[in-house]
Order: sequence, then C-alpha cells, then structure tokens
Amino acid sequence: MKISWMDERLTAPQKRVILWSLGALLLGLIMNAYHYSLEGAKGLYLWNRTGLFRSLILMAFIPGSLALLSFPLEKLQKKSASKIMRGFSLASSVVVALLSVGILAFLILGPRSGSVEPPRLKLINPVQGIQPSSLAAGGILSNSAAPLTAQPAGPSAVPASLAPPLLRLSFSSDPHWGADTSNTQARSDILAHIAERKPDAFFMLGDTVETGSKALMWNFALADLEAIIPSVPLKVLLGNHDALFGGQYLYKKAFVQKDFKSDSGSPYYYSIDAGAAKIIVLDLPWGTEQFNARQKKWLTKTLAESNRTKPVIVLSHSFFYASGYDDPELDKPWYDHFQNIPAVTPLFEQYGVDLVISGHNHYQEYLEKNGVRYAVIGAMGGIPDPKPTYVSPASKWIAVNQHGWLDVDIYEGEMVLSFRDQNNAVLHQEQIRY
Ligand SMILES: [Fe+2]
Repeated sequence: MKISWMDERLTAPQKRVILWSLGALLLGLIMNAYHYSLEGAKGLYLWNRTGLFRSLILMAFIPGSLALLSFPLEKLQKKSASKIMRGFSLASSVVVALLSVGILAFLILGPRSGSVEPPRLKLINPVQGIQPSSLAAGGILSNSAAPLTAQPAGPSAVPASLAPPLLRLSFSSDPHWGADTSNTQARSDILAHIAERKPDAFFMLGDTVETGSKALMWNFALADLEAIIPSVPLKVLLGNHDALFGGQYLYKKAFVQKDFKSDSGSPYYYSIDAGAAKIIVLDLPWGTEQFNARQKKWLTKTLAESNRTKPVIVLSHSFFYASGYDDPELDKPWYDHFQNIPAVTPLFEQYGVDLVISGHNHYQEYLEKNGVRYAVIGAMGGIPDPKPTYVSPASKWIAVNQHGWLDVDIYEGEMVLSFRDQNNAVLHQEQIRY
C-alpha cells in the first residue's frame, strides 16, 4: 500500500527509517502523556532528577532527528555516512520504543501487581463532616491542651483556657512506611499517643509510604494503623512519595472509601465541616503541579463562602513558608516554596485563613506571614532533614531532628497549638485568636 504523504522519490530504506522513528515518537509521547496525567508526576519533572525525567521526553525525538540528519548525508559521494546514520536512527527507534512500552507497563501494572484491601479504619468522609466527640462526651478530656500545665511545657507555653475545647484535632505528616531510613519506633509511639488522646480527627498529611507504587508499603501502613489507631477518625492526604509511579491507584484503594464524596468532586482536594472549624484540604504533592484552574476556582469559592466566625484551617502536603536547605543531590530549594507562595498564599491572606498546616519538610516549624499562621509538621518518622541552612524570615520556632506531631484544640475565639515529641512532651505551644 502506498503512503500518499510520503514522497514517491524516497527510497525504501529512507521510508523504513521514517516510519520507525515516527512509531518511536508516538510511543514515547503516549508514555510521557500517561505519566504526565498521573497525580504529582509533573512535580517529578521539576523537583526530582530533572535531567533524567526530561530526557524521557527528549528521547522520543532522537530517532526522528537522526533520520533527518541522514538525508543531507545522502548527497555525499560515499553513501556509508548516511547508511550509518540511518542505522543509528533505526537502533534508537527500537530502544525508544522498547523503553516507552516498558515504562508504560511499569506505570500501569506496577501499582496493580499487589493487592490492598479496604482498611478497618474510621475514614472520614468529607461530605459527612467531623462530629466532635468531646461535645458528645460532655466534659473536659484528659489530654486536651487545657490545662496546659498538665504536660511538660516548652518555654513559650501559653495561659490555660478553662473551658473544654470545642474541637480537638491532631496532625502529623511524612511517616514514610517502607523506607529503611524511617524511625518505626517514633511512628508507632506517635500513633499510640494520638490513639490515647482520642482526638475528634487525625490527619496524616502525606508521604504515608516511601514509594506509592508498592502495595507492600501501603499494607505495612494499614497494618500499623489498624493495630494502633483503628477507632480515631482519620483522613490521609496524598504526598509526593505516595504519588510516585502511579501510586494514586493504591492511595485510593487504601484511603478513599467506596462511598467517598466531596464538595469538589475530587478525592484529592475538598473541604470538611468540622463543626467548630472549617478544614480545607489542598492537592499540592510537590508544589502547584495539580493546582489547576479548577482547583483554584474551587478554593476561591470555598474560602469566600466560609463562615467568618469559625477558624479556617488549610491542609496540604507541600509547604508554603518553611526553613530548609538546598538539596545538594537534586539542586532544589527545600524552603519558602517558590511555586506555592505566589500561587496560593494571596488567597489565604485575602480571605483571612487562620492556620495552614503542611508536611514535606521533615521538621516541625511554626511561622507567621502577613497575618496567616503556618505549621510544618513532617516529623512522623521519615528521616529528619538536615539542619536548615536557610531560615525563613517567617519562622518563629523550629525543631530539627525530632519526631512528633501537632495537636490543635479549638476553643471559643482561640486555638491552642501544641507541638509534641514522640514521647508526648510539649515542645512548643501557640495560642491563636480567630
Ligand atoms: Fe517526606
């Protein structure tokens, strides 16, 4: 069959080399498009081994470029140069095609090669909100922030509030189940203390596992959660490690229940009515790669419609303001986030968000900027980040090389933040008016 768009004057070897390079280009583009469509994958191309991931795109164009180069070489008297170039083009077409199919198979089949069963956990369904158990119990709970003197307090402990909290929340992030470098003891201790405290809800802000495409790691996480903290209402966000190589499939198996419903229609960003507070979950695994026009429009509307008499707490995996360091391996700045700050914080400031809690950096830090308070709490067991070489101008307090979590107790008109270590001791407290 003749291919009409291909010049009749082309020789059979030339046609062959063009067809092979077009086939390789198509497969390369399909593979990259599929990877790009996955949650958080675009962040890999910007934040991780940038050269390696960008070369996945560039490789698709190599066979065609070599084929084109062979054409002017045809004009030489000796035909060996053009023959060699066509040979390179054909060989690279085969390599690119095989690599593309292999990577595509890895991305699709990898997460599906193991099974994750629906967990026996009390997963929060955003549309149903959070019911404060403290109100139902009708009394002061033993491990709330009031009175603060009941816990070993840090230097900035705040005066006690006598009324029982309206809402008791706990947050932590970056436990990294499956990483050899994570501290399993710290992780279990933190879970046990939170289970003992019995908050109205516990939020894990992502990087639950080290590599999201590995079912085994999700099963490690579920086994510990089911054993230690089965009855605390739980919500788990998707972090950049959870999203790796198609990890969203297993994340949903583990933490997005069958009857999940959210106001945004997405399992990755939504708001939750927690009675005494409004909680807004954002989808920012590495940075703004998922913060598209749809998410921004939803966030703007949700913030604009929020009840001003209740505190608004925003949660995300990647941070906004944070101290940190320049990663020597990846050559990336892990501090004051150059994408998240300009893209999202103007909305926080415009609509008076009271508190923003994130993970991603493996520190505990408290920061304030333009009237918005920020907490970074990536200390649930992942290997601690090195001592910051950059201290954010917004930073008010930081704990390095400490595992722990954050309790937020909400009272009438104020919130008390208690940063705790893995032994339940209070490292730092803040009292915030709202
Ligand atoms: Fe992490």
